[in-house]
Amino acid sequence: MKKIVAIGGSNSKKSMNKTLARYAANQIENSEIIVADLNDFDLPIYGIDLETENGIPEDATKLDNLLESADALVISLAEHNGSYTTAFKNAFDWLSRIDQKVWKNKPMLLMSTSPGGRGGLGVLQGAKMTFPHLGGNIIADFSLPSFYDNFSEEGLKNEKLNTDLNQKIKLLQKAI
Ligand SMILES: Cc1cc2nc3c(=O)[nH]c(=O)nc-3n(C[C@H](O)[C@H](O)[C@H](O)COP(=O)(O)O)c2cc1C
Repeated sequence: MKKIVAIGGSNSKKSMNKTLARYAANQIENSEIIVADLNDFDLPIYGIDLETENGIPEDATKLDNLLESADALVISLAEHNGSYTTAFKNAFDWLSRIDQKVWKNKPMLLMSTSPGGRGGLGVLQGAKMTFPHLGGNIIADFSLPSFYDNFSEEGLKNEKLNTDLNQKIKLLQKAI
């Protein structure tokens, strides 16, 4: 049984990225899925002075340990103004102070989605450039445009997108 950690890069309770990450992780055979909700990690806004005074927050270490325990990561990034959400970037920054190889070379399916036609492509492209320098082992990436039109728990409504995502999930499965 492989352990998959799924993360939506958002602190929205109804995060569409958390939904997509969970959906994709659930397609991986013989696996246990842990959905890491950023709301469950109490992380103050990163600052060098705060770190110097108080050290690393316990919940950052908790999240780091969770990543370490994973056999694979399924991450879907929400896009705010073309980039990471504050909540995700903050967690990312704390994690990078514990271990520069934030993503620990775990096989990763990296995704994004948004209600718009670009599907968070901006944040996805940024992450594709940055993550490999921080222990990111991106096996495949996928962007889902127009979430409300295309997403369904029974399979993506657009056939081409559905086939594409399934192929990428299979690639991740093979890499685990
Ligand atoms: C401050 C803010 C900025 C946003 N900027 C973008 C953007 O640049 N591109 C985009 O596609 N959607 C943008 N959106 C819409 C988000 O994609 C939408 O809120 C989506 O639900 C976020 O994903 P989540 O549900 O996983 O949090 C923005 C939303 C907010 C609140």
